[in-house]
Amino acid sequence: MNHEPIRPVDLAARHLQAQEEVEAHVLEVLRSGHYIGGTKVAKAESLVAEWLGTEDAVGVASGTDALILSLQAVGVQAGDEVILPALTFFATAGAVCALGAVPVVVDVLDDGTMNPNAAKAAQTSQTRAVIPVHLFGNIAQRPNVDVPVIDDAAQAIGSTPSPATGQLTAVSTYPTKTWGAAGDGGFVAGSVELVQRVRSLGNHGITGPHQHGRVQGWVGRNSRLDALQAAVLLGHAAYLTGRIARRKQLAARYDAHLPAHISPLPRQIGSAVHQYVVRVGNRDEALRSMQSVNIHASVYYPCTLVNQPALSQYPHRPTPVAEALCQSLLALPIHAGLTDSDVDRVCAALAGRS
Ligand SMILES: Cc1ncc(COP(=O)(O)O)c(C=O)c1O
Repeated sequence: MNHEPIRPVDLAARHLQAQEEVEAHVLEVLRSGHYIGGTKVAKAESLVAEWLGTEDAVGVASGTDALILSLQAVGVQAGDEVILPALTFFATAGAVCALGAVPVVVDVLDDGTMNPNAAKAAQTSQTRAVIPVHLFGNIAQRPNVDVPVIDDAAQAIGSTPSPATGQLTAVSTYPTKTWGAAGDGGFVAGSVELVQRVRSLGNHGITGPHQHGRVQGWVGRNSRLDALQAAVLLGHAAYLTGRIARRKQLAARYDAHLPAHISPLPRQIGSAVHQYVVRVGNRDEALRSMQSVNIHASVYYPCTLVNQPALSQYPHRPTPVAEALCQSLLALPIHAGLTDSDVDRVCAALAGRS
């Protein structure tokens, strides 16, 4: 019986595939003596703008910062309301709270993305922005609201159509993302004007080069994409299309071989499958049977934002669809290094045949 571990991601194997390119880019940066900004960062920024189909993009220190700086750039301030979906990583809400704004949590659709009608219904005169989250690679519908839309595309690089549906789009390049760095990183994409504002906000509010004196306009801080992380990302860039194609193949294999009592979460055809997520009745039992044969699955997400203790001071409306999903969602291992027989082993374990 094969009990080799099957992991959710295998970052060492991913590095091995792109080792030559990644290490050449990294060495170039180290030897250049140019560690902040520079050509690698600029190249990575233009790749992101090209992939998302936006005028411009800027590298920042993380996906969380990408959200905070985007909200700040469109004018969100303390006390403003920002609408977001109940099913997402905590950072989506954390970014809103970091500005002293109020997270207004709304329910999701069956595919886990924000219900656009719920978002519309939650709009008040205090609403200053809406954040659709392109969850697991599914592109959320753009709500019909008359305030800025900030796309949380932390999980949607490589998905089609482009996740850039609103004024600004936040991307994460956290190591486990499909296009992941060797540390924290992120991007904001959008119009030249708004991206320029984000660039300035992420550089202490400075608008011109080397202005150490008076800072005019707005108060920013330090949030820049590191040149070394940009180098790592450039090394992986050429492999992204192939890796996404492989993720799609693996997802199709899961779809075909899952036991009858387990169904995949609805997945759009263009999803880059950041996570392959299923709904399972007895999740604890499924997790136990996989763990017993060294297969590592993960729960995304064990609770909705409404049930997050850190957000308990805010009034919340009911989010029954998200609640039900949180009881049953399970993310199965998916990364380009998995073999077909790994997928078959996972399906056999879920069927109790291992
Ligand atoms: C949906 C979502 N939003 C925001 C973030 C935050 O990104 P980061 O970890 O790069 O700060 C993540 C990533 O983990 C995420 O999955």
